[in-house]
Amino acid sequence: MTDFGIIGVGRIGTSFARNMSLNGIKVSLYDKNFDTSTDIKTHYSELESSLVFDDINKFISSISLPRKVLVLVPSGPSLDEVISLCIKNLNSNDILIDAGNTNPTISSENHQKIKSKNLLYLGMGVSGGVEGVLKGPSIMIGGDLKAFNEVKKIFSKITSNTINNSKSFELFGDSNQGHFVKMVHNGIEYVEMQLISSIYYFMIKSNKYKYDDIAKVFKKWSKSDLNSYLLEISSTKLLEKTDGNFLLDIIDDKADDNGTGRWMLKYGLDLGCSLNMLNAALDSRFISKNNNARLKFNNSIKKEIMEYDININSLTDAYSFCRLINYVQAFLLIDSANKNYGWDISISKALNVWSNGSIIKSDLVNTLYKDYSVDNILDDKKIFKTLNELKPGLIDVLNLSLKNDVSLPCFSEALCYINQISSLFLSTRLIQAQRNQFGSHKISIN
Ligand code: 6PG
Repeated sequence: MTDFGIIGVGRIGTSFARNMSLNGIKVSLYDKNFDTSTDIKTHYSELESSLVFDDINKFISSISLPRKVLVLVPSGPSLDEVISLCIKNLNSNDILIDAGNTNPTISSENHQKIKSKNLLYLGMGVSGGVEGVLKGPSIMIGGDLKAFNEVKKIFSKITSNTINNSKSFELFGDSNQGHFVKMVHNGIEYVEMQLISSIYYFMIKSNKYKYDDIAKVFKKWSKSDLNSYLLEISSTKLLEKTDGNFLLDIIDDKADDNGTGRWMLKYGLDLGCSLNMLNAALDSRFISKNNNARLKFNNSIKKEIMEYDININSLTDAYSFCRLINYVQAFLLIDSANKNYGWDISISKALNVWSNGSIIKSDLVNTLYKDYSVDNILDDKKIFKTLNELKPGLIDVLNLSLKNDVSLPCFSEALCYINQISSLFLSTRLIQAQRNQFGSHKISIN
């Protein structure tokens, strides 16, 4: 008998299986697409003692009770199919763990389906990618406490050490809340990726900096408190060559997304929270894929092609400023979800889990965890002091970008946000007056 079952053995599932096996946890693997001729066990010696199945019944019978079954299939019809299979074949008190990027609302619905059959459920967001999951992922869990207690011991073996010396997994609340925290992680990730990419674009468009120069700036930042996993991989990618060409000279720029950023925006819309940086990050991806419009506009819109010098100190401050606003927006979303849905997601717990194993691991995550009152960010004077110090750099960078017809997605939104959120008098005075005029909407007079 084995200790753990995994359904869906793609790249991430394989990393999970390898990580568990390397840590002495015996696994059963099931994938309906398993090609038994290229047995996964021959590829990875650590999987030698694992059991591989393309028959669900045999797979389920091979796992010791109560069964713990980790599901790693894409959300949608594949996940629905696997959940029905599990409901049919698992016994009461067995634990189904949905470890994919699942929409929190769907996660709740799946929990209800599973509960009705007396199965236990964990909705689990996993960060780290293929390598991170192999070495010690960051795991954000929601669901039954009883199920969490059952898997705790195993998860403490396969995760990383965090900033507060615990392991990189946590229970955040009910089934949907683990997936919610992962969704917020991804929103932060989208913006962090876009900020770095906007900087690369701003520098390369200046006609003054080459990939080498940009990589040098990124590497210098990586030795400072701006260090992050995403910055590190970006400097490597800037220098990567394929057949003698720089990858960035030949790579197609159409950027996909798997939906998590859209879901977070949707939560922002439902809760009335501004996520304008995430919106800009997603917009960049959408624009990148709009081939036809890009071509038409490119042929018709005049742009100045200029050379310009960038003040790297200003750029450093601008980048630091925007990273902070990104986190502030994410924290305020969590805060609002807690208040509106009666949840109790701890932001400091989330930062602790993100501090190692995750794609957004960085010195900033550690600093926010250690030095800021993240669960009450608006009462933390330090953050306002820091933002005041950094803001002139952002204005400097944006001025230069405007003069040279280069847009910097996420940078301009951070400034727009801070200028509005820090004002007691807003343009919405006139909006209210307009609404009142044409729709007799109620207004109040101060
Ligand atoms: C992680 C990542 C991962 C995500 C990919 C792709 O934390 O390991 O967030 O879960 O699926 O990064 O996301 P997009 O396709 O939306 O860019």
